[in-house]
Amino acid sequence: MGIGTSTRRLHGAALALLLAATSAVAVGAASPAQATPETSLRHIVPAPVKVTPRPGVTYSLTAGARIQTQPGSADARKVGEYAAELLRPATGYRLPVSSGVTPRGVTLLLVGADPKVGQEGYQLDVTPWGVVIRARAAAGLFAGVQTLRQLLPAKIEAKTRQSGPWTVPGGSVLDYPRFGHRGAMLDVARHFFSVDEVKRYIDQIAAYKVNYLHLHLADDQGWRIEIKSWPRLATYGGSVEIGPGEGALYYTQEQYKGLVKYAGSRGITIIPEIDMPGHTNAALASYPELNCDGVAPPLYDGTEVGFSSLCIDKPITYKFVDDVLRELAALTPGPFLHIGGDEAHSTSEPDFKTFMDKVLPLVAKHGKLAMGWHEFVKTNPATSAVPQFWGTETVDADVAAAAARGNKILMSPAVKAYLDMKYDENFPLGQDWAALIEVKDAYDWNPGAYLKDVPESAIRGVEAPLWTETLADSSDLEQMAFPRLPAIAELGWSPQSTHNWDDFSKRLAYQAPRWKAGGVKFYPSTQVNWVK
Ligand code: ACM
Repeated sequence: MGIGTSTRRLHGAALALLLAATSAVAVGAASPAQATPETSLRHIVPAPVKVTPRPGVTYSLTAGARIQTQPGSADARKVGEYAAELLRPATGYRLPVSSGVTPRGVTLLLVGADPKVGQEGYQLDVTPWGVVIRARAAAGLFAGVQTLRQLLPAKIEAKTRQSGPWTVPGGSVLDYPRFGHRGAMLDVARHFFSVDEVKRYIDQIAAYKVNYLHLHLADDQGWRIEIKSWPRLATYGGSVEIGPGEGALYYTQEQYKGLVKYAGSRGITIIPEIDMPGHTNAALASYPELNCDGVAPPLYDGTEVGFSSLCIDKPITYKFVDDVLRELAALTPGPFLHIGGDEAHSTSEPDFKTFMDKVLPLVAKHGKLAMGWHEFVKTNPATSAVPQFWGTETVDADVAAAAARGNKILMSPAVKAYLDMKYDENFPLGQDWAALIEVKDAYDWNPGAYLKDVPESAIRGVEAPLWTETLADSSDLEQMAFPRLPAIAELGWSPQSTHNWDDFSKRLAYQAPRWKAGGVKFYPSTQVNWVK
């Protein structure tokens, strides 16, 4: 059985004590320079491609500042409005947004950027008169705004008005990502997370230039998305979670559309996952006809894996999958539907292949590309399908063969990128079946050279999954994600030439006052000399 809420609360209290003790140590260790943190172009996470400080030059955002955006571009205007929303609470300034190109205040332009920045990169220049961000697309402006955010004092993250000055160090940044896919995953099936909790996580990951959020929407313990043609999936299959939680633990399609839109406004594409043919007890419990014997199993709130399977030989299985994928595709502006495929221990290998051979064309029929946990490469999916590597070894012949055929691999090695692994054996939250993962472990690997016989050219990017068997609220999620999510985000964004633990840990140290000001819980790893 899963971990009950009351046990978890006790764990939370123990953790609070641990955190208090650890930060007390960090205070003593802090150098005087760190007692008054300044912002610097050298402290940005993820590390930019190129930074050129202009010593002695600063810009101060003042009460009369305006945000100007590229004339004629509604997309630039939206990023300008987002920047204003970000900067208004702590400064208390009006920060009106208007179209314009004068290099005063904050200016977001879609002209004049170095072509090298591509669709997601940007150039940022800080002069005594203002900050100019130039990009070739709105995604680049959005990334530039995240960098500007880290150049303002940490208290910019506060939700209430703070006193200035709001000084930005002078200089310039040229920046663009190493990989086009920088992902996070949230398991909303083992524990359900409300729309507001997911939005909170979206805001937190967007700050580190993550551009995909994979939502694990269905598993043995719960089905979390309304499917109008199979309503009991949500109303019954989504009525429990691990622990004592009960109720309407799912998103209506309207709510889900709102999440997709909100993510989009933060530069993030949502990838919905319905895990199959295993990890399907919630669906099997909701509809007896999906079971080979016609008998629905009970709902499940434990933590075992590998015991459920859709019925491979029944035609209704494929009617069900077709209906679900059709409704999901209609809710998904992004290119991918994730079909799971992991740990199908109750499905024979031939049945697994039969299943995937029928399901992969359904993904294509609904206009989407398939993503799946890497086990599905054994079924030889089209090269447009994206296998997500989650293994614990650095050798996988099937994944290497898929890469050689032309599939682009998304890297989530469980021993490095799984944010639900404990930091150390005493950490009260999380699991340890793959590894204990301290922040240095999460950072110190190269996604482009990790898997034997899988060259960097075959890597699509990285994703940091967060499974929630032991995690029940935002505080739990944050303590697992911070500081490791920024480590994985940096592996996805920053050039390999910037890879250096000592430098990363120093930059990471400056995130702590930002998390504190913004109310983000984090694990104050003793591997980092945190700035107060
Ligand atoms: C997985 O962790 N079963 C993908």
